[in-house]
Formats: sequence, C-alpha cells, structure tokens
Amino acid sequence: MTQDKKVNDLLSQMRTAVDTARAATAAAPAPSFNLQAAKPMQSFSKPEEPSQSRALLLLINELMTGVETRFGIKPGTLVERKLVRIFKDMPMATLKDWVESMNNCSTEHSEWQSLVENLTVHETYFCRDPDLMSMLGDEILPHLLSLRKTQKQLQIWSAASSTGEEVYDLTFSALRAMQKAGFARLFEGKLVPESGWGVFSFGTDISNQALRTAKAAVYGDLGMGSFRNLPDDWKAMFEDVKIAPANAMPGVNYFKIREWVRQCTRFERFNLMNNRPPVMGMDLVFCRNVLIYFEDPIKKAVQTMLARAMSPGGVMVLGASVQMLVPEYFESRLGKGGPWYVRNDTRV
Ligand SMILES: C[S@@+](CC[C@H](N)C(=O)[O-])C[C@H]1O[C@@H](n2cnc3c(N)ncnc32)[C@H](O)[C@@H]1O
Repeated sequence: MTQDKKVNDLLSQMRTAVDTARAATAAAPAPSFNLQAAKPMQSFSKPEEPSQSRALLLLINELMTGVETRFGIKPGTLVERKLVRIFKDMPMATLKDWVESMNNCSTEHSEWQSLVENLTVHETYFCRDPDLMSMLGDEILPHLLSLRKTQKQLQIWSAASSTGEEVYDLTFSALRAMQKAGFARLFEGKLVPESGWGVFSFGTDISNQALRTAKAAVYGDLGMGSFRNLPDDWKAMFEDVKIAPANAMPGVNYFKIREWVRQCTRFERFNLMNNRPPVMGMDLVFCRNVLIYFEDPIKKAVQTMLARAMSPGGVMVLGASVQMLVPEYFESRLGKGGPWYVRNDTRV
C-alpha cells in the first residue's frame, strides 16, 4: 500500500467516524479554527466552545511534541496549520484515541510514516544556490581531489536528499571536477572516471515518497519544479524519456538522469534523529535546507552525527543560514558561495 493511500485511508476512517457521530447525535458543528493565526490556546473562531477548541489544540500540541521527538521537526505555525487542517473536523474522542495510539507506536510504525510524509517539505531543484554550486566546483572539489589522490575515490552523502536533485548535482559536479583534474574523461558522451577512480554518492531522507522519486530519477519540466534554475551545461546529465500517458501530466516533458550518473548513486531511508550514521568515511556531506526545521539542541546532535560519518579532511556544507554548532570537529572556511567546514582529526 502506498503512503499516500495509507494517509488517505486513515483520514477517511476518521472522517467516517465523524459522519457517524454527527448523524447519531445531530451534534453542533465541530470547532473550526482560524488557520491563518492558529496558535496554541488562542485564535478560536468559535468562542462559545472554548473547552472543545482548547482540547483540540492540546491534542495537536501533544502530536507535535511526538513529531519533534521522533523526527526533529519543531512545532511551528506551518506544521501546526497542516495538523489543524487535517484534524479540524474530527470528533474529539476519535482524535484523542488516535493520538494516544500514536504515542504508543514506535517511530518506524507506518502511521507515523504517513503523518511525516504529510508534514515534511520536499522543495528542492537542480543547481539550487548557483554560487554554492560554483564554490563546490572551484574550491571544495579541488581540495577533496588533491586530498584523495591516493585513495582515488570520493564518497559523498546528501543527508535529507528529498527527491534526489542534490545527489545528482553532487555526482555530476564531482565527475566534472575529476575531468578538470585529469581523473575522468569524456568517452562517447559519458564522463567516465579514469581507471581506479570512483565516485559514490549516497542520498538519504525520511520520506519514502521522496526516495521513490529519487530512485526513479525522472523529472518533469513543470513550472517552478526541478528545472527552474537549470544551467545549460547541466543538461548533459539528462536524456529525454517517454512516460505512459496515464502517469504523465499533459504538456509536461520528462527527462531521466543518464545511466553514467545514476550508477554512482544509492538512496536509502534514514532519520537524522539517529545518532549512528548509516555510512562512515564520507569525504563530502551536504545537509542543506533541513536543519532550519530543527531546534538548536537537535541541530547540534545531527551535526555531531554527521561529523562522526566523516573522514579527516572531508567537507561539510550546511548552507548559509545554518550555524555550525560543533566547531570543535571542524575548521571553517569562507568561500565565494558561503561557509564550508573541513573535518579535523578530533574523534567524535
Ligand atoms: C527542503 S528538503 C531539502 C532537500 C535538499 N537537501 C535541498 O537542499 O534542496 C528537506 C528534506 O528533509 C527531509 N527531512 C525532514 N526531517 C527529516 C529527518 N528527521 N530525517 C531525514 N530527513 C528529514 C524531508 O523529508 C525533506 O525531503
């Protein structure tokens, strides 16, 4: 069963319960909320039912605490609004039972997975932040290639890779930097590492839906989608692909990542809240546009876990808006596209 279907089944079960309860009791309408200004204990549009409204927000707060403990995503207006939107028509008793049963479920339970699919933001696209990408090609990769001349391999991890665009960007950039350094060459339209050299890119995310798209490696040229910022020289990475009309959106063209890039990549589900990394010895770790959803103590724990996964001399990139909270493991550099952090020898 797909995650979407599970969520829909769950919601439809709860909606059926609401309808049954309403029909049986001809009860007053369920509380409704001002979604724009939903704040705990405030902003009710039905002041005549404050206890019921308060009860709903308390349950939502309880659920949000569970979401933060399990997945790091901090309670905030976006998450809260999504939850209020999903649950505002549920009868209190049904919702209370459900929240209780969620509290007793393990993080790996499909119910939590369904909920987290609805609460996570998967926004991403190719060549996101061009200054950072050119810093990667001009500063970071040359640093890594000279460091790994003897081992002849680069191990890359995109932690929170969403639908895969970042993983393919990193792989393509690594192959291009290797070509520039004489460690890869263009052969029949493919960038091929010289003998003995290899690039291994690993993408992880909490969302199964996002991982499915990443593995399929097929992207549509829809409006503000994956291709909103694609430079011309990035196009070498794609080939046209025909999608069955039943699965395609009318008027959208689809492109697949070429085999010579895909074969360097692997995707797996991983929750950043784990303190044991899924891989070790990483040379390059990207963890962008996800730590902004976490509070500082969780950000710090995630950065520690990422540091544990890295080799000395390896590089971590967090994006400009996220502060480095474990400076004891890194030497920081300021490049033309923002800060990057070189892993030192200190053991985690
Ligand atoms: C906005 S996307 C960022 C994608 C990419 N790194 C980029 O910068 O374009 C954030 C991703 O973080 C993932 N995420 C959120 N919480 C997570 C967690 N606890 N563990 C792993 N991934 C998580 C979401 O599923 C989502 O795909």
